[in-house]
Amino acid sequence: MNQIALVTGAAQGLGLCIARHLHAAGFKVVVTDRQLAQAAEAARSIDATGERAWPLALDVTRKADFETALAAVLEHWGGLQVLVNNAAMTKATPVMDIGADEFDAVLAVNLRGTLFGCQVMGAHMAAQGYGRLVNMASLAGQNGGTATGAHYACSKGGIMTLTKIFARELGPQGVTCNAVSPGPMDLPSVHALVPDERLAQIVQGIPVRKLGNADFVADLIVRLAMPDADFVTGATWDVNGGLFMR
Ligand SMILES: NC(=O)c1ccc[n+]([C@@H]2O[C@H](COP(=O)([O-])OP(=O)(O)OC[C@H]3O[C@@H](n4cnc5c(N)ncnc54)[C@H](O)[C@@H]3O)[C@@H](O)[C@H]2O)c1
Repeated sequence: MNQIALVTGAAQGLGLCIARHLHAAGFKVVVTDRQLAQAAEAARSIDATGERAWPLALDVTRKADFETALAAVLEHWGGLQVLVNNAAMTKATPVMDIGADEFDAVLAVNLRGTLFGCQVMGAHMAAQGYGRLVNMASLAGQNGGTATGAHYACSKGGIMTLTKIFARELGPQGVTCNAVSPGPMDLPSVHALVPDERLAQIVQGIPVRKLGNADFVADLIVRLAMPDADFVTGATWDVNGGLFMR
């Protein structure tokens, strides 16, 4: 495997887990997050030698950051085949209390960040005739959200729609675009967002009666990032313990 994958919001949580699994599968991984220091610490934790994990600062609200990152990766490693749009802002404000600034801030990171990532890296992939785009959606975008806010849920619904649009746009050039839609994962972000008592109630409502496993989600993303995953595109891959069935 001599392929390069870039993950946004990879300093912690699911993003770090995804970067770790891509690295384990043989990819060179560009570990990006808003702050370089956090990205660098994460990259070191994946590969202390730095040979196959490289940190970059990338704020997904800025299209120019994607352009700068792409140029830097091409200079450093000579290619880019995979982008995982993982960065997100998660808020649980009640719908009647969400103000304009907070709504815009969540959409700017989650939805517009995914748009910019697919535009910039997708154009590069289309020009080279090959690429894999994977977008992190969420069950909240399918069922309206239970523990998270309306802005978050709307952004994730939008990501599933963007995924179909980029799948159609870039498919003829060898670029696939898929979304992965997890239900609540057993991750620090979930425990921080949802009080223990409420989380226990949520688990009781999940058919398999447990929270999701981040390693499985990361493995699924690795699978979708592989060269032979060329007949799956525009799809949303549900990983939700049966909370939402199609
Ligand atoms: N945790 C869950 O149960 C769950 C469920 C469904 C979907 N997801 C999705 O999985 C992804 C990761 O979730 P998590 O729980 O690890 O979240 P997290 O909050 O732990 O991590 C998010 C990361 O994104 C980064 N980030 C925030 N704003 C950014 C910006 N403007 N530019 C670049 N990076 C930025 C943060 O610094 C952080 O490292 C998100 O897209 C989330 O919506 C998570």
